[in-house]
Amino acid sequence: MEDDQVIILGIETSCDDTSSAVLIDGVVRSNIISSQTIHTTYGGIVPELASREHIKGIGPIVRAALREASTSIEDVDAIAVTYGPGLAGALLVGTHFAKGLALMYDKPLYPVHHIEAHLYSGYLEDSRLGYPSISLVVSGGHTSIFHVTSPVDYTVLGSTCDDAAGEAFDKVAKMLGLGYPGGPEIDRRGCLGDSAAFDFPRGLMHDGTQTFSFSGLKTSVRRTLELLKSQQREIPINDVCASVQEAIVDVLVHKTLHAAREYGVRIISISGGVSANSRLRTVMQKKAQDHGMQLVTPQIGYCVDNAAMIAHVASMRIAHGVHASAPSFMISPKAMRTTS
Ligand code: KG4
Ligand code: ZN
Repeated sequence: MEDDQVIILGIETSCDDTSSAVLIDGVVRSNIISSQTIHTTYGGIVPELASREHIKGIGPIVRAALREASTSIEDVDAIAVTYGPGLAGALLVGTHFAKGLALMYDKPLYPVHHIEAHLYSGYLEDSRLGYPSISLVVSGGHTSIFHVTSPVDYTVLGSTCDDAAGEAFDKVAKMLGLGYPGGPEIDRRGCLGDSAAFDFPRGLMHDGTQTFSFSGLKTSVRRTLELLKSQQREIPINDVCASVQEAIVDVLVHKTLHAAREYGVRIISISGGVSANSRLRTVMQKKAQDHGMQLVTPQIGYCVDNAAMIAHVASMRIAHGVHASAPSFMISPKAMRTTS
């Protein structure tokens, strides 16, 4: 390795993906993501199982990330790790591993907020992208819109007041018996169904704020399924999927474009697991184009939980002269959804 290169090792274990990545001079050289499949049969994430899987996976995955990037821990200039939000036990595995490495090899350590990493993932893909931008972060635990003004400055404009969009996808999938996580299966089936078959509610869509609400949609789907069952009618699963997806996408697109217009911003980025949704990508792209805006959709590996986005935040901080933290920092789990 050349001496003047900046090599950052990223570690992410906030939920059910164990991930490690290496960025060299801001370019992703490896981004290993191991998704835990152990939760599939439980209809949601079982925290204790998630922690155990992270413990098993973290060492080999960090080694694999270093190997794939043709570097070694000795050559790493800084370590970045997710400190929250997430599952407490899962976060402890990643942060303890990172702290151990930092102390043993005398490396600076950057604790990174998981959602901050998601919101900058559009810039990970294309560093020439300008500011300001409006960033929609839609995942299983979060749905928020940000006004991003620089690599180290952003404001949250609004978030969900109840369920996250991914949570709505997953809960509806559970009602339909489609397994966990439900988003990808609803996406697949939604493409085969009629999105106008059911008129599900679009919570707070026209209230002029960036606050989201998806719990009414979930209740409406439950009532619809109960009614169909009581009438002994077959449940048109693909039509339900298409209609639910359309309702969620309508709200996400409407609020994001509304924020972009309100703040006079021409760049929009979407990230988080739900941004992998094909209908969301299609509709957001079309609407952005109609309004003369540029839409940035990171590749799927940077949309889902991944360590490249964690290392990327540290890389921007280093470029802006932000100092590393003392290794005594704490995790910050806050609320995180589980099976209950
Ligand atoms: O960002 P992520 O990987 O983890 C969290 O931080 O939550 O997001 C996971 C969420 C799950 O709710 C999953 O159902 C949803 O993203 N998801 C999708 C799709 N792929 C993943 N939702 C809708 N359509 C998809 N194609
Ligand atoms: Zn996430």
